[in-house]
Amino acid sequence: MQESDKAPVITVDGPSGSGKGTLAQLLAQHLGWHYLDSGALYRVLALAANHQGITLSNQEDLGSLVQNLDVQFASDSARALIRVFLDGVDVSDIIRSEDCGNIASKIAVLPKIREILLVWQRDFHKAPGLVTDGRDMGTVVFPEAVLKIFLTANSQERAKRRYKQLKEKGIEANLCLLEREIAERDERDYKRDNAPLKQANDAIILDSTKLAIEDIFQQVLLWLPDKLQVYKGQPKAFNTEG
Ligand code: DC
Repeated sequence: MQESDKAPVITVDGPSGSGKGTLAQLLAQHLGWHYLDSGALYRVLALAANHQGITLSNQEDLGSLVQNLDVQFASDSARALIRVFLDGVDVSDIIRSEDCGNIASKIAVLPKIREILLVWQRDFHKAPGLVTDGRDMGTVVFPEAVLKIFLTANSQERAKRRYKQLKEKGIEANLCLLEREIAERDERDYKRDNAPLKQANDAIILDSTKLAIEDIFQQVLLWLPDKLQVYKGQPKAFNTEG
């Protein structure tokens, strides 16, 4: 039996700007588990494709690009993802740009690319456990997850959060444009044929429009002991004490 066979998984899916990354990282840090930001894989591929001038509909070239990508993740002691390196260069900030997100969302409709990324994402499943965020974590990549959360927030609120983040980084931003881009990305992510953004049947839906992510985190903490009970025979695998 592989160590991943027993290691529990928690998934946090949702649209861009819902706060899923923050919630997933808080949970990973709290539990001392691994963390996978699946969007970062699509984003880093988008960046590499852009650098190499590959047409976004060219599945063959994108497929061989992803198979040969030199990507490294550097994590802190709590195993939260902190930096992403492409060919040895720290690209953590650049992959967060709206442009990269939009290209990633276009690449994400391609079935062949999703198939390759599926294997890559499942490689992150290791003991003592994994917290992951994305669009199809609970539905396709880790359907066996012990806890699945689907985090939403209305698109105006998500655009406002993004606007604030960009301003804080000293980057010029246009709220109307951000709202439009978020709406377009939602449309593509929700409506694609292959592994669209949607909640798993057994996911808990949470709306962060009027709630701080910290409050949502506190709520999720209350559910953990019950959801993780099945692993109680392995006390070292997780720590549900604050
Ligand atoms: O979560 P994010 O904004 O970093 O994701 C960027 C894009 O990558 C998103 O618009 C669609 C794609 N994506 C996906 O299709 N499936 C995932 N599990 C994660 C991201």
